[in-house]
Amino acid sequence: MSTGARLFTALVLIAGCKGEDFKEPQTLGGVSIAPETLNQGRRVYVRLCAGCHGPDGKGTTTARTAAVPPRDLTLGRYKFLSPPASGVGLPTDEDLARSIRFGFDGTQMAPIAGTSDEEVMAVAHYVKTFSSRWRELRPDPPVAMPADPWTHGTDAPGREAAITRGYRVYHGVAQCWACHPGYASADALNVMVQQAVVESGETPLKKVPQRADLGASAPVETAFGKVLPPDFLGDKVRAAKTPEDFFRAVAAGIGGTPMPAWHDRLSARDLWAVVHYVRELVRMRGTPRAQAWRLGIPASPSTQGSRSTNGTTVGVSDRARD
Ligand code: HEC
Ligand code: HEC
Repeated sequence: MSTGARLFTALVLIAGCKGEDFKEPQTLGGVSIAPETLNQGRRVYVRLCAGCHGPDGKGTTTARTAAVPPRDLTLGRYKFLSPPASGVGLPTDEDLARSIRFGFDGTQMAPIAGTSDEEVMAVAHYVKTFSSRWRELRPDPPVAMPADPWTHGTDAPGREAAITRGYRVYHGVAQCWACHPGYASADALNVMVQQAVVESGETPLKKVPQRADLGASAPVETAFGKVLPPDFLGDKVRAAKTPEDFFRAVAAGIGGTPMPAWHDRLSARDLWAVVHYVRELVRMRGTPRAQAWRLGIPASPSTQGSRSTNGTTVGVSDRARD
């Protein structure tokens, strides 16, 4: 870029911050965005977002004292994305639109209603103007989302089998309990890890190192400060609502945090299995049966659609929707 062009860009940016109109298109994430779109996005931002994120996007508003402070949008770092979190860490437009439209459970950022898709997309583009990362980088391609093999097809094994396998993936194969709580006794967890090691063709470990406080989450450092990963039986998850959202969180990981992308470490079958298991925990939150799930998958004589799978009987929650 020539010095003149740089100066011009700088002036346009300052104009943007001051609340004056964008006159020229801007290249954000490798795509040219029309000034009309950015101006429309700014109007939506001033109306719906600036109260928390601040006119300059830095989030230094009164909302910053909340347990989960509004994001500093000038960082250009995102948690909820479909490209692998280990890459550039920028979300797709669909990811941003989803976050803006549905908000984040357990935080102050509520879903927005009465706003058109066009306005949501315009403010998604406008938000990018706060960070230089969007001028320099473009989002990586999203992780693949294969069909769920547990529930698709005529001889699909079904949700209960998926939950049983997911329980083993969570505790044995992927060891999600390194950060999230473990929902199994120390002995059961030990057995599941040993089984996973044998499955992988390696020699069983002598001793599986476990956290002393396995029943609680372990605090982790992130680009946004120290956070406690969710306890699925106790806390609200932020963005994940549909099975696809859970798949995305697990397969792509959570940006800016140590939660890794699992898309290249787990098979599609195991990815979907752990999604079914974690969703079942989330469904149990606040129900009388939650306590039973803290200790492992309860063998349940429940009348509600119980079925024996691989010798283990699991109950499907009363709140099950699919
Ligand atoms: C009531 C306060 C509040 C309002 C209003 C609000 N936000 Fe947020 N926003 C938050 C909080 C809190 C977070 C941090 C969530 C987290 O870290 O899990 C956040 C995070 C974000 C993120 C980061 C998402 C990610 O993947 O990490 C974006 C982008 C965002 N907000 C955009 C917007 C836009 C655009 C609007 C207006 C349409 C808006 N916000 C309105 C509080 C708010
Ligand atoms: C290295 C630590 C770590 C590991 C290992 C880990 N996570 Fe996470 N996880 C996190 C953090 C950090 C968050 C985000 C917390 C926040 O929003 O502040 C998170 C969030 C989540 C969410 C919530 C997404 C949302 O919408 O809020 C899901 C679901 C999840 N993890 C599932 C898993 C599963 C399944 C595994 C194992 C396959 C796993 N995690 C392994 C640290 C970890």
